[in-house]
Amino acid sequence: MQNISAYIEKNKVRFIDELFELLRIPSVSSKNEHKEDMYRACDFLKKSLLDAGAENAEVISTEGHPVVYAEKIIDPSLPSVMVYGHYDVQPPEPLDLWKSPPFEPEIREDRIWGRGADDDKGQLFMHVKAFEFMNRTDSLPCNVKFMIEGEEEIGSPSLGKFCMENKDKLHCDVILVSDTSMIARDVPSITTGLRGLSYFEVEVAGPGRDLHSGLFGGAVVNPVNVLAKMIASLTDDNNRITIPGFYDDVLEVSPREREEMAKAPFNIDNYKKEIEVDELDGESGYSTMERTGIRPSLDVNGIWGGYTGEGAKTILPAKAYAKISIRLVPNQSSKKTDELFIRHFKSIAPPGVRVSANVLHGGEGYVSPVDHPAYLAASRAYETSFGKKPIPFRSGGSIPIISLFEKVLGVKSILMGFGLESDAIHSPNENYPLWNFYKGIETITYFYREYMKGDN
Ligand code: BES
Ligand code: MN
Ligand code: MN
Repeated sequence: MQNISAYIEKNKVRFIDELFELLRIPSVSSKNEHKEDMYRACDFLKKSLLDAGAENAEVISTEGHPVVYAEKIIDPSLPSVMVYGHYDVQPPEPLDLWKSPPFEPEIREDRIWGRGADDDKGQLFMHVKAFEFMNRTDSLPCNVKFMIEGEEEIGSPSLGKFCMENKDKLHCDVILVSDTSMIARDVPSITTGLRGLSYFEVEVAGPGRDLHSGLFGGAVVNPVNVLAKMIASLTDDNNRITIPGFYDDVLEVSPREREEMAKAPFNIDNYKKEIEVDELDGESGYSTMERTGIRPSLDVNGIWGGYTGEGAKTILPAKAYAKISIRLVPNQSSKKTDELFIRHFKSIAPPGVRVSANVLHGGEGYVSPVDHPAYLAASRAYETSFGKKPIPFRSGGSIPIISLFEKVLGVKSILMGFGLESDAIHSPNENYPLWNFYKGIETITYFYREYMKGDN
């Protein structure tokens, strides 16, 4: 049997050419104008999966963006692995900050540059290529299914229903996902936790029109001033969230587990340097890794209102708006948080304004077991390809559908992500190092071997 490293070496240019074709499709799920691009991305993936050896592949419409499903069943009595990924991407704006256009991928400094290079086109494509290798070398050891969706970046609104309606088709023993990151290139790690999310848009309305700030300022409640105060009051001096009842369901992680987590070789100086900040701050009593991994957080994602154009305009604005997200830890319910937030936010509105708050999307957190046969197989796979045992760690990001997979399909997901902090996902100049792309393909191939071999 040809080995995977040789196969990658021989085919690496083609792998990149193919991935570039996918990266050129602007499949931005949040914008209606890209509706057709969503289908183009699906058709491309369907063809890639068939070329890679899938027996059948289909593009399935949902109430939202379509899903690509493919499978190869070598023996119904063998275990089935389902690969999950998403072909949709975040909007590329602001465009002027990109060094090369977001949908014209190119290679510089041994990295692939473009929207989706990591999140998640680059990462999901590693699975397609690992699958191709196993088919070409007759070494696929179990059944494989692929489910690739197009609504992850908007909260997977149609996928829950899709799973419910396709339980038999999606039946599998474990779900494999590459849509997370590692601690560092030389610190192989497997994500064992994801945070949940509650996301709101709020509006504070005051006077019926923008007013002259000289004639009315000081006598009429200013919605922007009010919104700023309301937001400021949502966290206290210890950076704890002040919404009554908010922490009720937060599970405190045991001191022993925290000690274990603290052993992860997380480099705080690199972290600060990477994001260009001098100091870090967060909830008192917790380390940086803990603040993102095991504690909730609240952030304003955007705030606007009043005059923001060139120069000065003296007005007292009629309205103010903000988008606010709350990251949740496992065991907190996003639905319950929605209710707590909305009730609290309205309750802190001063007289003179009307406040409304709407949920945009959300989902639950997830913890992955480190004693699951597939986790252990993944761990051995990393050990083979990186020469080091991977470290389990909890990420601060969210993939809401993962907890739904557990609830609806009763199946655990293993998060074999190969991204890096420096990949700038969701930002201008998203990139994915070639090294991680090829290493990922290699490691995924070993996963299948280890999974079927078992840990004896
Ligand atoms: N792939 C990310 C999530 C991620 C990245 C998890 C890195 C862990 C490490 C995913 O595409 C994402 O961006 N999720 C959104 C949630 C969604 C509901 C918009 C997020 O975390 O903001
Ligand atoms: Mn993603
Ligand atoms: Mn994303």
